[in-house]
Amino acid sequence: MMSRMSKSKLPNIVILASGNGSNFEAIVNATRKGILNANILRLITNKKCFAEERAKKLGISHTRLKDNWAEELFVLLKELAPDLVVLAGFMKILPSKIVNNFKIVNIHPSLLPAFPGKDAIKQAYEYGVKVTGITIHFVDEGVDTGPIIFQKALEIDGLTLEEVEKEIHKLEHKHYPQVIESILNS
Ligand code: GRF
Repeated sequence: MMSRMSKSKLPNIVILASGNGSNFEAIVNATRKGILNANILRLITNKKCFAEERAKKLGISHTRLKDNWAEELFVLLKELAPDLVVLAGFMKILPSKIVNNFKIVNIHPSLLPAFPGKDAIKQAYEYGVKVTGITIHFVDEGVDTGPIIFQKALEIDGLTLEEVEKEIHKLEHKHYPQVIESILNS
């Protein structure tokens, strides 16, 4: 059991999600397995979503933003003062006031700059690419445009869309916690 003392020395992260929350859960599990040495301060969502159910089950405190979400998020992040903000399927574009005041990372399910935006796995699949993958990048004011930190390619020739989605998510769940760990230690 980790003592209160040693826990308080860990870097603090906040996770933002809007959907299923499988990356959120993978990150929480990584902290419990010692793959990621970080303290998860809060899950923040902007709407009712399955990520919230996962937070309850995992015992992570949670805040759902209301209509004036951007201002509320700014105030909340100022208060929590995390070392890193982790986007895990957060479907809002962050205003410059937030982007310029916090260190923020995002994960995207394609090899950026190819297929930014929504439904990237499907976009890549329907285009007919033979190789796709995942990208982890710092967040700027654009949509999936910040500096790239990590990419992993996946050959998808002959796979169904469902198989590609499954393999992409496996890569995300494996690599996102590891990349967060390396960012926190750099
Ligand atoms: C992931 O594919 C991630 O790359 C993208 O949104 C999806 C979120 O999935 N940004 P989940 O909610 O973590 O299951």
